[in-house]
Amino acid sequence: MAVCLVTGGAGFIGSHLVEALVERGHQVRVLDNFSTGQRDNLDSVRHRIDLIDGDITDLETVRQATRGVEVVYHQAALASVPRSVANPLATHRACVDGTLNVLLCARDAGVRRVVYAASSSAYGNSARLPKRESDPTGPLSPYAVAKLAGEHYCAAFSEVYRLETVRLRYFNVFGPRQSPESAYAAVIPLFIQAMCSGKRPVIHGDGKQSRDFTFVADVVQANLLAAEAPGVSGRVYNIACGRRTSLLQLIDYLNAMLNTRITPTHTAPRVGDVQHSEADIECARQELGYRPTTDVPTGLRHCLEWWRQRSSTRSRSVKVA
Ligand SMILES: NC(=O)c1ccc[n+]([C@@H]2O[C@H](COP(=O)([O-])OP(=O)(O)OC[C@H]3O[C@@H](n4cnc5c(N)ncnc54)[C@H](O)[C@@H]3O)[C@@H](O)[C@H]2O)c1
Repeated sequence: MAVCLVTGGAGFIGSHLVEALVERGHQVRVLDNFSTGQRDNLDSVRHRIDLIDGDITDLETVRQATRGVEVVYHQAALASVPRSVANPLATHRACVDGTLNVLLCARDAGVRRVVYAASSSAYGNSARLPKRESDPTGPLSPYAVAKLAGEHYCAAFSEVYRLETVRLRYFNVFGPRQSPESAYAAVIPLFIQAMCSGKRPVIHGDGKQSRDFTFVADVVQANLLAAEAPGVSGRVYNIACGRRTSLLQLIDYLNAMLNTRITPTHTAPRVGDVQHSEADIECARQELGYRPTTDVPTGLRHCLEWWRQRSSTRSRSVKVA
């Protein structure tokens, strides 16, 4: 039974990872400052984890959190392109300074391996699809720069200090608990929120832009594999479904599932967004044994189910109050 630290464990992806680790019998510590994460996300495991309310930009806090830890799953970040455009300094602090703190403390605590939540935004707008790990990087937003800087720190720590690190470049993750409520929410929860209440979803641009939408359980799978796979320290892997879906296709899927015929409204394209994104996941298949299990329509059904449950719990609690 390993002691694991999940930074950002109260977030969307982090909380799913925490549940999976607890289920497998690991002793899990979560370090989160709840800037975008929610305590509710950890409801199902609250009494089985060690929860530290603290900030990864504080070196002493991270030092305490990494004591006695075997694997760090570093998920904490301000995870949004538009947020980084609005406030690049905050993104830099969380993603770059925070990551450096995590790596330094992991090194000093004798952590066996750090698994880093990297981002497909590292590739920028490079024309070649699907994206391979060997492709040149070209980050377009402060967020992408900061996440890629974190990657370089991981690689450098493996090289210089022999700290094992594995970088997982996630491609547009979606799933239950992804909140539509922030001003910086991701597209799928926003579409679901709008369409479930009969409203028209808003698309920035023509809607033909596409993404390799990746179900959260597959990202969890990749993290678990990356923590254990032998001989992969210093490596970087694309983690995705391996297929491209346009925003217009997403709306078609949701209309079919909801039995509606809602059309989107269009606004100007967003600064810093890439046009198309699709991953080559062969390296993760070969070297980690990664196999995506959930395609976009199946994942959307899980999201709708979660959304309906959440809406009915909320309306019940409003009535009771
Ligand atoms: N969601 C995606 O599509 C996606 C794609 C690529 C990479 N990623 C990466 O995956 C990770 C998780 O993303 P997510 O979608 O779950 O986002 P999220 O916002 O739900 O989770 C991030 C968590 O980190 C915490 N956090 C932020 N700053 C912190 C700080 N300074 N100290 C401690 N905790 C802090 C937040 O409170 C939150 O709980 C991030 O590193 C993100 O960059 C996500």
